[in-house]
Amino acid sequence: MKTLVAILISVFAIMNASASEPEVVFKFYCAQCHGEKGDGSGPNVTADFATDPRDFTKKAEMEKLSDADIKNVILDGGPAMSKSALMPPWSKTLTEDEVNGLVKVLRGFCQCEGAS
Ligand code: HEC
Repeated sequence: MKTLVAILISVFAIMNASASEPEVVFKFYCAQCHGEKGDGSGPNVTADFATDPRDFTKKAEMEKLSDADIKNVILDGGPAMSKSALMPPWSKTLTEDEVNGLVKVLRGFCQCEGAS
């Protein structure tokens, strides 16, 4: 019983954090395609995906994107950057703060800085 209570408390702690904690936002909205580790192998990705979700751990690719590029793609979706429409737009779902947080999460996956 004690364990159950402890589990429930931690579940509520995660739920409360979901509005702002960038890692939680990533797991909730992005990990199904980009993978929990950001390597592009989320559980939603099937063979009929014409384009694989970006692997955020690929430093060489991620370095080519500026923070502003990443932000644009998250807010406006793939087509805004001439990329696949499989990458959805999030401007109606996420706040600007949450998107700024996500840019930092992705930089953590690639361990890189963007081109300016
Ligand atoms: C339904 C699946 C799906 C979800 C959910 C999703 N993405 Fe993507 N994402 C993609 C695909 C597919 C691409 C590759 C687009 C391409 O290369 O044409 C992509 C590409 C990207 C890129 C790289 C664009 C570039 O210029 O290379 C970024 C950054 C990105 N996604 C961030 C996110 C973030 C942050 C979230 C969560 C808010 C998210 N994605 C949620 C499918 C998804």
